[in-house]
Amino acid sequence: MTARVGVRRARPEDVDAIVDLFVAVVDEGRWLGTQPPIDRDARRAQFVEAIEAPAGIASLVALVDDGLVGHAHVDMTPYNVAGLGMMVDARWRGLGVGGALVRGAIDAARDMGAHKVALQVWPHNDVARRLYLRHGFVEEGVLRRHYPRRNGELWDAVIMGLVLDETSPGSGF
Ligand SMILES: CC(C)(COP(=O)(O)OP(=O)(O)OC[C@H]1O[C@@H](n2cnc3c(N)ncnc32)[C@H](O)[C@@H]1OP(=O)(O)O)[C@@H](O)C(=O)NCCC(=O)NCCS
Repeated sequence: MTARVGVRRARPEDVDAIVDLFVAVVDEGRWLGTQPPIDRDARRAQFVEAIEAPAGIASLVALVDDGLVGHAHVDMTPYNVAGLGMMVDARWRGLGVGGALVRGAIDAARDMGAHKVALQVWPHNDVARRLYLRHGFVEEGVLRRHYPRRNGELWDAVIMGLVLDETSPGSGF
């Protein structure tokens, strides 16, 4: 089954559902950089800020039958690389929602004038890594023993990038 998924810019009325989704995915404990506990009010304020930002940030939601099932955040750096983070409700994974969000996020990054989209992913997140590879990202390297976790572990992270501008000159030396 493929979900009939729509992707659009998030609106203020989406924020409670976005926070619920974020808390649920963080609580899975395996996929995101953020670790529990979550300060819901602080997160709520951050999501509202992202939605209301005049430029440089795209907050996208994925909807199935008007229900919010996914979220992507695209954030331009001052050097025109767009950072990407995303999550899909566990009950709706494997149905194409993530693919729709990645495509929406790449379009948003292009619209913002990004020459590249960049992200980091845990090495064990095979589904996410395959999803990004399918959409043209390449694995650019590994940050070894980089991120401290609350349990004392040091996790590696895979750096992935999608170059949008292949025609500007590269470094000339
Ligand atoms: C990573 C994540 C966003 C992917 O979202 P998703 O909705 O499951 O993505 P898709 O459904 O588009 O693709 C996932 C798989 O389902 C398959 N799929 C997509 N549509 C399908 C369909 N109609 N029927 C069967 N399989 C399908 C894809 O081929 C893919 O398979 P693969 O992993 O074997 O290559 C999601 O797993 C998630 O939110 N994980 C937790 C948070 C997270 O890891 N975020 C990213 C941090 S970097």
